[in-house]
Amino acid sequence: MMAYAFLTWIVLLMLLRVIAYETVQDAAIISRHMVEHSINSIGTMATVYPSDHPTMAGQPFGLQEYYASCFSNGSLTLLVLPISRHSQNILHSPVHSASITISSQHPAASHSRVSLLGNVTVYQDWDNVFEEEAIKACYLGRHPDASRWLPNDEDAAHIAYWARFDPHSIYFVGGFGDEHYIGYIPLEIYQNASAARGVAGRVLIEQHA
Ligand SMILES: *[C@@H]1O[C@H](CO)[C@@H](O)[C@H](O)[C@H]1NC(C)=O
Ligand SMILES: *[C@@H]1O[C@H](CO)[C@@H](O)[C@H](O)[C@H]1NC(C)=O
Ligand SMILES: *[C@@H]1O[C@H](CO)[C@@H](O)[C@H](O)[C@H]1NC(C)=O
Repeated sequence: MMAYAFLTWIVLLMLLRVIAYETVQDAAIISRHMVEHSINSIGTMATVYPSDHPTMAGQPFGLQEYYASCFSNGSLTLLVLPISRHSQNILHSPVHSASITISSQHPAASHSRVSLLGNVTVYQDWDNVFEEEAIKACYLGRHPDASRWLPNDEDAAHIAYWARFDPHSIYFVGGFGDEHYIGYIPLEIYQNASAARGVAGRVLIEQHA
C-alpha cells in the first residue's frame, strides 16, 4: 500500500513537472511575442568584421539596432545604412550574416531572451522592394525618427537601403533551466508560432496601428 502511494506521488510529481516545464512551442510563442511586442523594437545586433579588415579582422561586434517585425513568418525589416559598422560587416560577409538578440522587458538571468541568427537581404535596387509602402508604414510605425534617413530620399541624412533579415537558427533562453526551455527552436515552429494571425509571409500592417 505504501509503495503504491509512493509510486502515485512520483507519477504526479513527474506529470506536474511536465506540465510546468516550457515546451519548445511555448518557447516559440514567447520569442515571437518578445520580438513583436518589444517596447522600442531595438535589439542587440552582432556581426563579424570582414577577414580583410586591417585591424579588427574576425572580431565580433555588437551594438543596438532598430528592427521592425513586419512579416508573419518572423522575418524582420531593417534599414541598412552603408555608413554604419554593422552594415559594412553585413555587406562584406559572403552570406550577409548577422544575429539579433531581443530580451524581455526587464532583462534578468531568470527572464527570457532570444537570439536570432540569420542572413540579411539588402535591396539596393529600389524597384525590387517587396510591398515597399507597407514596409515603410510598418517600419515608421515602430521608428518614426527614421523618416529622416529613408531610402530613395534625396534630402536624407545618409544613403539607406531596405533590408530583410531572415532567421535560420533561433536560440532561446527562457530563464533558469529547471523551469524554462533553453536551446534551439526549430525554424518552422518559430515561423508558425503566430501563423494564426495571417497567412505566412503576409505583411502585418495592422499590427502596429
Ligand atoms: C545564410 O547563412 C547560412 C549560414 O551562414 C548559410 O549556410 C546560408 O547559405 C545563407 N543563406 C543565404 C540565402 O545566403
Ligand atoms: C507550419 O505550417 C505549415 C503550413 O501551415 C505546415 O505545413 C507545417 O507542418 C507547419 N510546421 C510545424 C512544425 O508546425
Ligand atoms: C518571410 O516572408 C517574406 C515575405 O513574404 C519573404 O520574403 C521571406 O522570404 C520569408 N522568409 C523566410 C525565411 O521564408
